[in-house]
Amino acid sequence: MGIFQVIDHPLIQHKLSIIRDKNCGTKEFREVVDEIAMLMAYEVSRDMPLEDYVVETPIVKTTQKTLSGKKVAIIPILRAGLGMVDGILSLIPAAKVGHIGLYRDHETLEPVEYFVKLPSDIDERQLFVVDPMLATGGSAIMAIDALKKRGGNNIKFVCLVAAPEGVKALQEAHPDIDIYTASLDEKLNEDGYIVPGLGDAGDRLFGTK
Ligand code: URA
Repeated sequence: MGIFQVIDHPLIQHKLSIIRDKNCGTKEFREVVDEIAMLMAYEVSRDMPLEDYVVETPIVKTTQKTLSGKKVAIIPILRAGLGMVDGILSLIPAAKVGHIGLYRDHETLEPVEYFVKLPSDIDERQLFVVDPMLATGGSAIMAIDALKKRGGNNIKFVCLVAAPEGVKALQEAHPDIDIYTASLDEKLNEDGYIVPGLGDAGDRLFGTK
């Protein structure tokens, strides 16, 4: 079973409380999501491989460490996942960005793929799939299905708020992937919103309703 980690650093808990507030406006919501994503990237990238690096300081020649160049791709699930991309890029600026678009079929209520555009070498990359809300898990499961179908094999899922139902469903469907969230909330309500949650992340990020 992959890692399940709640990244509950005090700065992250503080910032999450700011965006949970229904009076937090679009501008602040977007900025704070960006900051949380950046802070989470620090922890999510903790196992990035290093290699020896010889450097000459003003004092002496020494062998230190440098990132071994393992390639990363950030894969936002459209649309709300877009809000987490820039924060992660600020720490891992060389990452490529792929996109996966899904919509919910009104009759079956199942997510359907409508857009997939990925770097050509996803089989060689560490993939960070990002979506602020892990609710039922349906979109995350389908996005990861789409990546695995195309050769993705090293996948971490990163969200801000997770419902226990979504974590369970995702772990059952994809036991090999690591899941990182800033908060494990209480439950899903009858409308599929996470409680206490933060409402519709896409609408709050983009100012739509
Ligand atoms: N998607 C959201 O944006 N919010 C929720 O609470 C659940 C799913």
